[in-house]
Amino acid sequence: MGIISNLRGARTQEQGLPSSESLPPSSSASNKRKCSTLMPLVVALVVIAEIAFLGRLDMAKNAAFFDSWPEMFYKSRSPAGLDVTAVEKLGIEGLGGDQKLAKESCEEWLEREDALTYSRDFAKDPIWVSGADQEWKSCGVSCTFGFDPSKKPDAAFGLPQQSGVASVLRSMESASYYSENNIAQARRRGYDIVMTTSLSSDVPVGYFSWAEYDIMAPVMPKTEKAHAAAFISNCGARNFRLEALVGLEKANIKIDSYGSCHRNRDGNVDKVEALKRYKFSLAFENSNEEDYVTEKFFQSLVAGTIPVVVGAPNIKDFAPSPDSFLHAKELEDVPSVANKMKYLSENPVAYNQSLRWKYEGPSDSFKALVDMAAVHSSCRLCIHLATIIQEKEEKSSTFKKRPCKCSRGSETVYHIYVRERGRFKMDSIFLRSGNLTLEALEAAVLTKFKSLKHVPIWKLERPESIRGGDELKVYRIYPVGLTQRQALYTFKFQGDADLRSHIENNPCPKFEVIFV
Ligand SMILES: *[C@@H]1O[C@H](CO)[C@@H](O)[C@H](O)[C@H]1NC(C)=O
Ligand SMILES: *[C@@H]1O[C@H](CO)[C@@H](O)[C@H](O)[C@H]1NC(C)=O
Repeated sequence: MGIISNLRGARTQEQGLPSSESLPPSSSASNKRKCSTLMPLVVALVVIAEIAFLGRLDMAKNAAFFDSWPEMFYKSRSPAGLDVTAVEKLGIEGLGGDQKLAKESCEEWLEREDALTYSRDFAKDPIWVSGADQEWKSCGVSCTFGFDPSKKPDAAFGLPQQSGVASVLRSMESASYYSENNIAQARRRGYDIVMTTSLSSDVPVGYFSWAEYDIMAPVMPKTEKAHAAAFISNCGARNFRLEALVGLEKANIKIDSYGSCHRNRDGNVDKVEALKRYKFSLAFENSNEEDYVTEKFFQSLVAGTIPVVVGAPNIKDFAPSPDSFLHAKELEDVPSVANKMKYLSENPVAYNQSLRWKYEGPSDSFKALVDMAAVHSSCRLCIHLATIIQEKEEKSSTFKKRPCKCSRGSETVYHIYVRERGRFKMDSIFLRSGNLTLEALEAAVLTKFKSLKHVPIWKLERPESIRGGDELKVYRIYPVGLTQRQALYTFKFQGDADLRSHIENNPCPKFEVIFV
């Protein structure tokens, strides 16, 4: 053990790792002596290479196996002259010569050198959130919710908190009604963690989830005479929804209204069952706010009726296919929306085309969004907290000493961490400077997760018909710490050079992957 740390110590002072060309010259005799003293080390370090090598080794002819084995090993694999320095390189860049073995060694070295232990072990000391017990099946990081005045939590809901305790704001209401839910305003008031319907909040809490809505429920015959059903309980709103309703009626759109606003039908019905009989549903939210999309929209999708939306300007981000909804962005759109409703009502083929996602499955973008909710928001909060705690520690001097890359000749191997969105544990992948590309990153991620026989976190949550097979498909790879708005819609590395600069500027960078 002492030898290993001495060797490593000597190397880390050298600013990176020596290439085989830069190794100091030394005599064959002195190296042979080192060979025998380092024997246990040799055996340990080459254990993987050994397996490959044994094929070439005639065991029977080598009675003195452990005396001659290392020498034979290097001589048989390295160009003349390099074998004498082989021991110098042990534990650093591996065994030289054979490309493949040398590469594996560099990666193993990084795995070991970079794998520092964090001072807090969440298995023994779980994330502690002061708040009501939460129900979840499991979470990627150990996590406890509850009340215990004797214990200082990591986070608590509401303001203000004692120092060292993160203040969390959690609300599913629109910021148009509750301005405190506006992210910038919440931050100004001192909230450390914001959980709202906004996909730009730290831990989004959406109305959507596979568990809540049977999104792929079959389409039923449209037996009602009216074009659309409406369940609007309150005519008042911070948008033009009442005017839109009146506008549609004026344009001769027949609406069965079950809510207290303009009611003309008995409201005492099962909403989704009723919606199934209509061609359209008025999914009119009470405010037009980005990402504020409620059950009005998702229940329409379940029912296999086309939602006519007054609400989130970016409703298309929440739609299972581009033509699966109609959108009145402003009051002036109402006449054209009315015309589109009439056209679709009279053209069964075109109407059915809008519901094609019900037969063929929703877009990857829709799946990737709803899959987020496969992990309970309270669990995502804990993962967020644990990630921040570890990132703080990574700024300490101990962690700054991690090599994170390993140079061999003109090539550098970069150590990268990756995890699936919704999980906490990171896995290692490696990229080489000669192939530091987006394509190679995706390939490395896929190879890694395939080798782990990884099962996507949403697998058992999604409706069976859209779970897919066992293959893994990458939808997004993005740096840990981005919001879901960035991750799903706006972030993209601007080519390979951008990825390269990210990796060079962020030693041991951490990425998250979304599979679809
Ligand atoms: C709608 O299209 C699907 C296939 O895309 C088909 O199976 C279904 O029968 C069609 N329904 C109607 C009412 O035409
Ligand atoms: C770079 O990586 C990609 C993906 O892993 C691989 O297909 C390609 O062969 C590599 N190219 C080189 C030059 O190693």
